[in-house]
Amino acid sequence: MSKLNVNESDEVLVSSSTFDDAAVVKISDNIAMVQTVDFFPPVVDDPYLYGKISAVNALSDIYCMGAKPITALNIFAVPEDLDEKYITEILQGGNDAVEDAGAAIVGGHTIIDKEPKYGLSVTGIIDPNNVVTSSGALVGDDIILTKKIGTGIYLTAFQDDQLKENEYDELIASMVHSNKKASEIAISHNVHAMTDVTGFGLLGHLSNVANASKVAIRINSKNIPVFNNFESLVFQGVTTGGFVRNYESFNQNIFNLSNMNTLAQMTLLDPQTSGGLLLFVDSNKTKNICEDLKKAGEHAFIIGKVIEKNKSLIEL
Ligand code: CO
Ligand code: CO
Repeated sequence: MSKLNVNESDEVLVSSSTFDDAAVVKISDNIAMVQTVDFFPPVVDDPYLYGKISAVNALSDIYCMGAKPITALNIFAVPEDLDEKYITEILQGGNDAVEDAGAAIVGGHTIIDKEPKYGLSVTGIIDPNNVVTSSGALVGDDIILTKKIGTGIYLTAFQDDQLKENEYDELIASMVHSNKKASEIAISHNVHAMTDVTGFGLLGHLSNVANASKVAIRINSKNIPVFNNFESLVFQGVTTGGFVRNYESFNQNIFNLSNMNTLAQMTLLDPQTSGGLLLFVDSNKTKNICEDLKKAGEHAFIIGKVIEKNKSLIEL
């Protein structure tokens, strides 16, 4: 999109130009429409869980803007010979996630394709004055992460039949967990910026916020929470293509990354599927917001701080 000439109307409050999770278009003085789309091939064998994970992941980008999802459309590619039961299960998983979110699937489109692909286009609403973007982070803000890192390594291990049952359970529990509550708590504490951790990994999404907010970020790489057996899987030699791509894309903006050991690098750039939220919050509010998140059954890990704009977007 950055290569195109796009004329945006004044009604477009947030577009793809600011590294944001969803677009926001003003409808009236007190209503703006929030739109996003996400879909991917099966990440697990269970069709119901696949549908649910994909829908929870798509909904998350609405929550990143501080908005409320209203409707969703299925985006579906299915092989001609795919079992009807498998198809129904995927759609049921997606439907249940959307219903849990208080929204409704109101249609969709299906095509024939060699490999299944499923996801959602989601529409939400928000008061245009309350939009939370990636460009609002302020120097001095604390950065809070609401899920552990590790879905990239765990999913690769799963696909190679190397994941134990308890590890699989940890992976699924994290991916089906909605960011709804964490987002609502974040809004109630007036966070300055918010995004979710997905394919670009922790440092990729932090780089986007640093860029959009014209600040830099200092991360305490020893404080990054990971899944229980993340470390042992990395030492077993599990690696992901997404990690290599993320390293190449973001390395030049991150001071000290090349000096980090493999475990730290893999943690910081592990591509996430349905990852947690990153909250940028006034440091006076950190204690209260963390308490509220934990009371609601959410994780709250303080992983770093926003600092003055610098040569590097991120310091480790
Ligand atoms: Co996102
Ligand atoms: Co997305």
